[in-house]
Amino acid sequence: MKKDLLKMDDLSKEEILDILNLADQLKYELKHDIAHAHLKGKTLGMIFEKSSTRTRVSFEVGMYQLGGNGLFLSSRDLQIGRGEPVQDTARVLSRFLNGIMIRTFKQKEVETLAKYSSIPIINGLTDDEHPCQVLADLMTIREYKNTIEGLKVAYIGDGNNMAQSLMIGTLKTGMNFSIACPPDYTPKQEYILRAKELAEKEGTKFVITDSPKEAAMDADVLITDVWASMGQEGEAEIRKKAFKGFQINDELMGKAHSDAIVLHCLPAHRGEEITNEVIEAHQNEVFDEAENRLHAQKAVLVKLMK
Ligand code: CP
Ligand code: NVA
Repeated sequence: MKKDLLKMDDLSKEEILDILNLADQLKYELKHDIAHAHLKGKTLGMIFEKSSTRTRVSFEVGMYQLGGNGLFLSSRDLQIGRGEPVQDTARVLSRFLNGIMIRTFKQKEVETLAKYSSIPIINGLTDDEHPCQVLADLMTIREYKNTIEGLKVAYIGDGNNMAQSLMIGTLKTGMNFSIACPPDYTPKQEYILRAKELAEKEGTKFVITDSPKEAAMDADVLITDVWASMGQEGEAEIRKKAFKGFQINDELMGKAHSDAIVLHCLPAHRGEEITNEVIEAHQNEVFDEAENRLHAQKAVLVKLMK
């Protein structure tokens, strides 16, 4: 039976760790010129209904490096953009392709695509989730800290797609997770309940608060994301007011462990969710994190499409 990656919770703890191990291996092999054409002759369709720099380039380059082909499909050009049902698009594309990565708005659309496709579907970001980014984040944390179990991750800002995938990914792999967000911008209730369940199962701590300082206290990893995500441009001004104070800056860094790392999925809005000083001081982690999208996604592609 085909396997999809529609949300972080589609992966078990073991599957996440397997992907991270394979990602480390693929990164090593790339750096040492050891090539394996795991996906020779295979084509991944990449549907984009939102903009992208990292996701598009890393998936396309990743497929190429694996001996296959990545096909960029903009919804502006596809018939889907003119109203062709997802159900039909799914069945047609399944006849041509070996996998589909999709970046879109509604999580439901990705689920419908998966239901009607006979090939693996990968979520390249929806309003609810960004699982590929979180796999790259976990990989980066492990590179810097040599472990992930038992570490404390603090997320400051919007309870958005990044926050929701991070909660599941970190708590599932034995990390402690604290999130600070304004009361009107918390993750969805179903994610909060699932986070509590995972923390209980793993014996770790999940905290949701409206105090960035409380969340950042003794953190090993600090993470943030934009205050207004793609599709929320019209709310940008209201959000700027609501998120005032929910910023990773030097003062907040002072609450975390002195060797804490900082991650940001990018693109960043310097002066809003993070200061220029902090992101520049932590550029090593942030750009390793961006690079790791390539390696983590290649691992996902091999696991799902080989
Ligand atoms: N982090 C991320 O997904 O970046 P892009 O929007 O550039 O793909
Ligand atoms: N939360 C952001 C992430 C971008 C990679 C957005 O959805 O726009």
